[in-house]
Amino acid sequence: MPVITNIEDLRVLAEKRVPRMFYDYADSGSWTEGTYRANESDFHKIKLRQRVAVNMENRTTATKMVGIDTKMPVCIAPVGLTGMQHADGEMHAAMAAKKFGIPFTLSTMSICSIEDIAAHTQAPFWFQLYMMRDRDAMVRMIDRCKAANVSALVLTLDLQVIGQRHKDLKNGLTAPPRPTIANIINLMTKPRWCLGMAGTKRHTFGNLVGHVKAVTNMKSLASWTNEQFDPTLNWEDIAWVKKQWGGKLILKGIMDVEDAKLAVASGADAIVVSNHGGRQLDGAPSSIEALPAIVAAVGSQIEVWMDGGIRSGQDVLKAWALGAKGVMIGRAMVYGLGAMGEEGVTKALQIIHKELDVTMAFCGHTNIQNVGTNILLPGTFPTA
Ligand code: GLV
Repeated sequence: MPVITNIEDLRVLAEKRVPRMFYDYADSGSWTEGTYRANESDFHKIKLRQRVAVNMENRTTATKMVGIDTKMPVCIAPVGLTGMQHADGEMHAAMAAKKFGIPFTLSTMSICSIEDIAAHTQAPFWFQLYMMRDRDAMVRMIDRCKAANVSALVLTLDLQVIGQRHKDLKNGLTAPPRPTIANIINLMTKPRWCLGMAGTKRHTFGNLVGHVKAVTNMKSLASWTNEQFDPTLNWEDIAWVKKQWGGKLILKGIMDVEDAKLAVASGADAIVVSNHGGRQLDGAPSSIEALPAIVAAVGSQIEVWMDGGIRSGQDVLKAWALGAKGVMIGRAMVYGLGAMGEEGVTKALQIIHKELDVTMAFCGHTNIQNVGTNILLPGTFPTA
């Protein structure tokens, strides 16, 4: 067993252990993958100011996201097909998040269902919703969230149409995988994964199959999106969701100042500056590049978070310094899960927390609440 010291180690191990089509699903962007790569590489350009001879004892990274306590300004992002990275993956990730003390968000396109997470973790969690054409199905899903003690709803606004991810098409992505020769050969090299899957009945989209009318057997994410997601989504629909739900609402997928202002007007509790991990509009700026202008425009009126490219605690600190009151981590969690199940997600969270905490100390701070843009070297970070 290799010694795991950073998120990249978890990625390498996940790549070995997870079937090709599911590893590729997570580790890809749309078209040229330019935005996907920029999400990560733009973080590397930002430089930190080291301070010395500052008392570094008694540090804390604790904060709140939409009023909910969290050990660090990090929550688990909703990621489709997480239960294909590892058997019962969403349940394992939710448990790791709960034990660590950060929020977990379940995707609509998850393998484990809302009820699975509620029963398994017995803790409030967040749920990510897509706007579907079938409003009755939406009402039922929102009601299921209420019954499951979901404490915030994350409405994703940037996936009414799907950005093309070449690898998914080439791999013939489905959940579960079709028994083709290529898939069987690949699965034969993933015994741990196969053993795990043999021990669970959760092999397809648990929130949808048997819950949404006419969905008895759902294979491909792309075909589901094309058939079911509502391309007419507008701000009136968002108001409708807010009314149906009645609880905390987070709007994800905001990349433009004008949309951020509309989000404030909608009465949402938080927005997530997000290009969907570079999986939707290739050619959009990285999330960290888009963040400062949105913080400058609306940061005093609404909690602004971001996601995309977070692979270390240093990235979390940089995003915080640029005004993000929280970040969502998707791939960092997925790599941990694919590598080692719940233990791997815990490892990913420990790595990120330690990097965040120690970097904060190097920058001369003991409390994240006091960290601002002045920890960053002028001229190296994006501005409004
Ligand atoms: C779904 O949210 C995806 O990005 O695949």
